[in-house]
Amino acid sequence: MKRFEILMLPGDGIGQEISLEAEKILGWLDINTKLKLDITKSDVGGKSIDDHGEPLTHKVLNKALSADAILLGAVGGPKWEKLPFDIRPERGLLKLRKELDLYANYRPAIVFESLKDSSSLKGEIISGLDIMIIRELTSGIYFGEPRGIKNISENVKEGFNTLRYNTDEIKRIALIAFEVARKRKKKLCSVDKANVLESTELWREIVTETSEFFPDVSLSHMYVDNASMQLVKNPNQFDVIVTTNMFGDILSDCAAMLTGSLGMLPSASIGSINKITKNKYAMYEPVHGSAPDISGKNIANPLAMIQSVGMMLEYSFNLASFNKLILKSINKVLEKGFRTQDISNNSNHTVSTSDMGDLVIEELNKSKNEKI
Ligand code: IPM
Ligand code: MG
Repeated sequence: MKRFEILMLPGDGIGQEISLEAEKILGWLDINTKLKLDITKSDVGGKSIDDHGEPLTHKVLNKALSADAILLGAVGGPKWEKLPFDIRPERGLLKLRKELDLYANYRPAIVFESLKDSSSLKGEIISGLDIMIIRELTSGIYFGEPRGIKNISENVKEGFNTLRYNTDEIKRIALIAFEVARKRKKKLCSVDKANVLESTELWREIVTETSEFFPDVSLSHMYVDNASMQLVKNPNQFDVIVTTNMFGDILSDCAAMLTGSLGMLPSASIGSINKITKNKYAMYEPVHGSAPDISGKNIANPLAMIQSVGMMLEYSFNLASFNKLILKSINKVLEKGFRTQDISNNSNHTVSTSDMGDLVIEELNKSKNEKI
């Protein structure tokens, strides 16, 4: 019997609701498979600020450091936007990424065929889409020093951030991206702004050097402005994209919308080996945010969160077959025409967040007798 400790950090806004659906899936796995999952729930983000005065307490960080995997809902909301920068909800998430050294962020954008008409792009452009964005997550402009806002004269302030990458940081994310590409269609596109930014000129140089170890993978380079255009124009030209922290943030929202809704995209953030668990540090979260405008209404789409559970099973617990099973169940639910509001049109059955979770469980139950 395999026992895993999972730390759930539902966070803010719809993070709370979608986490309940993830819990249903975890509960199903616990009962119906040999997997034994110990779940602990803690606060992060705005919820933690309200209850404990900071977005990530030392206690929760310690739990995160010893967990087999973390599932995070979402952080942030207008309530905390006026707070000083250092104690805003987002800092909790960034601190987790940094402290666990979760440098490799996997953001897959897959189009479920039954959803291809939910995209704002024509069905034929996104049909069959299957892209993996590998985003560098612990360096770049998000973490570069110096940073801040200072007075430069009596009436003028200056806000500044620093975009930095060193050779080792580029090399380790490039290695991950090439390995991922090798297991897929062997096509890697590295996205930078090497024509303007020295840090990404170095990025291009190191990615190119790394490609010598992967003669079977074809490498191309693209400037980020062009990449954003190409993603919308002809997304199927991409297989794996590797890019910096900020470019990855922007391009993954764009890729998410290609699939029909931001509510459909999961992600995995993986780090180095954890000496306590002997596994890699890992956190799983939907790409979308806390969506304060729809929170508490039971209408949010829980499928990105449920797919994040699937990614956890594959990446942290080495159970790719369970991830496939979850994806298959989601696909069946969608094929039957059930949709949450964000992906619904007139011909669908619009269902609530909790109904969607139940429908996925129903499909999982049906496949129980199949080989799992
Ligand atoms: C994401 C989010 C975060 C980011 C925010 C919430 C800090 O947009 O995971 O894409 O910018 O990385
Ligand atoms: Mg983002």
